[in-house]
Amino acid sequence: MRFVAGKPLERWLLVMDLPHRKLALANDPKTVETVMLDRKGEFPKSAVVHDLLRPLIGGGVFGQPGGAQVKETRRIFSRSLATIPDGLVGEVTEAITTEYIDRWLTTAERKVAISEELSRLTVDVVSQCTLGNRFNADESVRFTRLFFAFHQKATPLVLMLARRDPKVRAGIVKEMGIDKIGAEMRMLMRERFVRPLVTGAQPLESAPFAQALAEAGRFKTGADGEEALLDEIAVMLLAGHETTASTLSWLAFELAGRVAMQDEAARAIVDAPAGKGIWKESPPQAVADSLAKEALRLYPPIGFFLRETEQDVTFRQKAIPAGSFFVIAPWTLHRHRQLWRGPDNFQPQRWLEDTPPPARTSYMPFGMGARGCPGMRFATVEMAVILRGLLTRTRLSLLPGTPPKPLGNLTSRPDREIVLSVTERRD
Ligand code: HEM
Repeated sequence: MRFVAGKPLERWLLVMDLPHRKLALANDPKTVETVMLDRKGEFPKSAVVHDLLRPLIGGGVFGQPGGAQVKETRRIFSRSLATIPDGLVGEVTEAITTEYIDRWLTTAERKVAISEELSRLTVDVVSQCTLGNRFNADESVRFTRLFFAFHQKATPLVLMLARRDPKVRAGIVKEMGIDKIGAEMRMLMRERFVRPLVTGAQPLESAPFAQALAEAGRFKTGADGEEALLDEIAVMLLAGHETTASTLSWLAFELAGRVAMQDEAARAIVDAPAGKGIWKESPPQAVADSLAKEALRLYPPIGFFLRETEQDVTFRQKAIPAGSFFVIAPWTLHRHRQLWRGPDNFQPQRWLEDTPPPARTSYMPFGMGARGCPGMRFATVEMAVILRGLLTRTRLSLLPGTPPKPLGNLTSRPDREIVLSVTERRD
């Protein structure tokens, strides 16, 4: 987005020349739908995604272009997530959120590095629910700091401007210095999550995701088998925490500048009709829901989907040759002036108004189609519970400092740590 700044990003279809190939960016609903819902695999994920993430997730599904193997692996992810009831996600999230907030409220200065803390919290939730285990405190601090450093260096644009030669791309990735960071993160995940399962120190039944991999014949011991297992566990942990952490960090930042909105939302949540938890069948908590939806609109954690054209295609009378990049960007769709009123403003009320919901191609924080997010339900429950903890137990406020901007390399996470004042809500 920084590279194309100044280009008419809101065009229904923008086609531009990069040094070695073309790049198409589509906002037109029909084109978006064709590319995202394409079943024939004409628009696979770009190899750039794989190159950038390989140091972290190896051959894990997230970086794979598509095809039968991806379909099968996605089924394993979905099957294992479906075995984890919403109530359990809610309970685990509530317990871990309580623990984190208790700690924040006893820090001497009441200053909290909220993006780091939310990364730690969400990685704990996803690992506890899917693998029955958590990092210890030192490991989780190290893991989240390493990932931030990885993220700062992993710039897709540099690869997009390079020749298509895999050797050239491998050289560029090496220069980014992400191999070493990825290796250390893998070591942390291997020791904490993979080893106990393959050695039998932790029973498989306590780890729904590992169990689903085992049932599908993917749970193999021995050095190679262990690496393949680690690849998919890395996908689950990374895709399953960075997205929720990024969304909640931006939401905390927006709320910290709006004390009255926090008070009102806290009241709405406390006053909501009883139900054991908001993830159960209690009526939807419209206010909390509107906050999460608006944060996902304004800061979609995966800001762009990078695909490639396998064949020559034509959209809106523009020819796009095979081998071009094709970008569908929630970032441009969610802020498009012809699709939204006040697109750049944080206005959760828009979701409470009695207007028709946005078209599915104008709002897709979880993607759609063959590569859509299998963790949407998990994320929705988890974010609602964390948000309830934040709103009902704390009051957030801004501290002086340079405001964050979205980093935008792999996700839209803030480019710097967001430090907020977090005090106890007593009313
Ligand atoms: C706010 C929260 C989340 C958002 C906005 C989100 C969004 C997305 C999007 C847009 C994709 C597709 C990326 C693409 O097409 O390039 C994706 C993939 C994925 N998500 Fe999520 N996600 C969230 C939370 C989660 C959670 C909590 C989990 C697991 C518990 C999860 C697991 C995955 C996995 C495994 C994939 C890879 C699927 C594949 O490679 O086909 N996500 N997510």
